Amino acid sequence: MTATVSAPGRPRPVTPLTILADRLDRLARQAAAAGQADPELAAELRAASQLAGGLDPYLSQWTTPESPALRRLAERTEAEDWRRRGGDGTAAPLEQEMLSGHVEGQTLKMLVHATRAQQVLEIGMFTGYSALAMAEALPDGAQLIACEIDAEVAAFAQRCWAGSPDASKIEVRVGPALATLAELDAAGEQFELVFIDADKASYAAYLNALLDHELLAPPGLICVDNTLMQGQPWLPGEPTANGAAIAAFNQTVAADPRVEQVLIPLRDGLTLIRRREA
Ligand SMILES: C[S@@+](CC[C@H](N)C(=O)[O-])C[C@H]1O[C@@H](n2cnc3c(N)ncnc32)[C@H](O)[C@@H]1O
Repeated sequence: MTATVSAPGRPRPVTPLTILADRLDRLARQAAAAGQADPELAAELRAASQLAGGLDPYLSQWTTPESPALRRLAERTEAEDWRRRGGDGTAAPLEQEMLSGHVEGQTLKMLVHATRAQQVLEIGMFTGYSALAMAEALPDGAQLIACEIDAEVAAFAQRCWAGSPDASKIEVRVGPALATLAELDAAGEQFELVFIDADKASYAAYLNALLDHELLAPPGLICVDNTLMQGQPWLPGEPTANGAAIAAFNQTVAADPRVEQVLIPLRDGLTLIRRREA
């Protein structure tokens, strides 16, 4: 049982914006509780808290709603008690906050449509939200291969999307993603769109595996999640292992002459990378 994994239905703030909104909310409440000491400061903090706290709900409100299948999958992920997993301490912790969710899922769907991808690769599937979202945007006959190291969560995902007409487009490969990428490369598979969302320490290795070989079909688009890592890359103090990995990854991408990229402040950061023309 991992102490940091949150209780069902009580997700922690895990993006720069939600962490900021949470802090501002607490400060605003403290200032209000302090009474009349400084009403202007209290009002400023309340306004700042409303600005930060209202943004994500507003984005969600004006984004095309998720499908019933995606909503059900998100609800089942939130209701699951992830603290019970790996009681013997051998399994890597999984948590409800890993799920990308409505606005990021819809963004990925838009990218599938925009690239007209027929072959999509996901590295890091968890309960399958982003996989199913992208599959919903794929035409019939197209395919998404999802890499996931954890057999238990892969089975959970497959149970969650059973019944969705788009589930048949998803092929799950259980195992370490780098080994799966080598197998896919050896089989001559190519992907027009790749979503990287697995262990942060391997992000650079995933990018190199895609670029060094022919796995990325031209022109090819790579989307990489969590590239803001809760603000750790620019905050003072010692980053976590994931924070350090993401800071190093962002530098690696910026220094790679083969690609151009943009880091979009969506949720915990989504970097879009494309191979430059030769
Ligand atoms: C952030 S979650 C993925 C979230 C998912 N893309 C979504 O949007 O709902 C990361 C997943 O990567 C998996 N993972 C971690 N290391 C991996 C590896 N080496 N190979 C494949 N999957 C891995 C974890 O088990 C976890 O399920």
